[in-house]
Amino acid sequence: MIGQEIIQGTAPSIEEEASVSFISSILSNSAPADLTEVEIDPSGLPAPEPVMKWVGGKGKLVSTLTSLAPREYGAYFEPFLGGGAFFFSLRPSISSIGDLNADLINLYSEIRRDPYAVRIAADLLCSSHEGDSYYYRIREIWNSSRELLSPVVRAATMIYLNRACFNGLWRENKRGRMNSPVGRRPDGSTRPMCPPLASLASVSVALRGAAISCADFEAVVAPAKPGDLVYFDPPFIAKTKTSSFKSYGAGGFTDDDQARLAACARELASRGVRVMASNADVPLARELYAGFRIHEVSCSYSISASGSSRGNRDEIVACAGWS
Ligand SMILES: C[S@@+](CC[C@H](N)C(=O)[O-])C[C@H]1O[C@@H](n2cnc3c(N)ncnc32)[C@H](O)[C@@H]1O
Repeated sequence: MIGQEIIQGTAPSIEEEASVSFISSILSNSAPADLTEVEIDPSGLPAPEPVMKWVGGKGKLVSTLTSLAPREYGAYFEPFLGGGAFFFSLRPSISSIGDLNADLINLYSEIRRDPYAVRIAADLLCSSHEGDSYYYRIREIWNSSRELLSPVVRAATMIYLNRACFNGLWRENKRGRMNSPVGRRPDGSTRPMCPPLASLASVSVALRGAAISCADFEAVVAPAKPGDLVYFDPPFIAKTKTSSFKSYGAGGFTDDDQARLAACARELASRGVRVMASNADVPLARELYAGFRIHEVSCSYSISASGSSRGNRDEIVACAGWS
């Protein structure tokens, strides 16, 4: 039963145990006694969509990215997965996806393994929501003790916080603490809607052919072969000094990382891997991706040939490795 499995690992402090027992009590109140894996019938499921609204999410750019992608490719690699908008739209049969955010990778692994169990726990957390103080209590448990939660409860808690937070937008500060304030629906209510089981089940099916890793981008794309497609959507190069913090959590993606990424993209393309790399349209990005085909993407998310002056462009997609 979810409530009994909630604490994992060894020797939590009394305070930590007391805090996670709040989540435990919510889940053990009404969770079914027997949570076994259910067989999913993929026919009739809706198209998969991102579970998490993520900073830098590519939801509005999916059709642009699709128009830029090669028509054919072998395996698909996306090492800065985030919310995975492009991945879920492509639904590649063989893929390798990754992100450095361990909570996000746990979420995808758990949804793939057992969307039913994740849904039940997330729904209980959402339906027990009583107002702002409930949200802030769970957010504090998340920030102080989430490593004590079992993987499925950790995944469900991430969904609850994402659905209940302001604008549904997950943000972490430099110390890796989730810091989004509580959100409000148009009717003034703060109780979040849990994603339906069918949505999580379709995400689970979409993840079936994927190798999922919590790793640096270089490790994820290392096995790519000629004819495979790699899409890089890293934290962007800052347009201004004040925008350098990207809200993806602890650490950061420095200019040295950007140079390491561009060198990796160049090496992949040189051996016939098809590469697409998004970034901010700033001089450093143009310098790092010199020699790639540069597509400018406007705020309205249409594209134009490099060098023309249509629209308000602020992103580029650099492509190489195929003609
Ligand atoms: C711009 S977001 C990706 C957004 C995603 N394409 C979407 O549609 O939601 C960048 C992601 O890169 C991850 N990241 C940061 N540094 C990384 C690294 N060195 N290797 C792999 N992932 C990293 C962050 O955790 C974040 O999820």
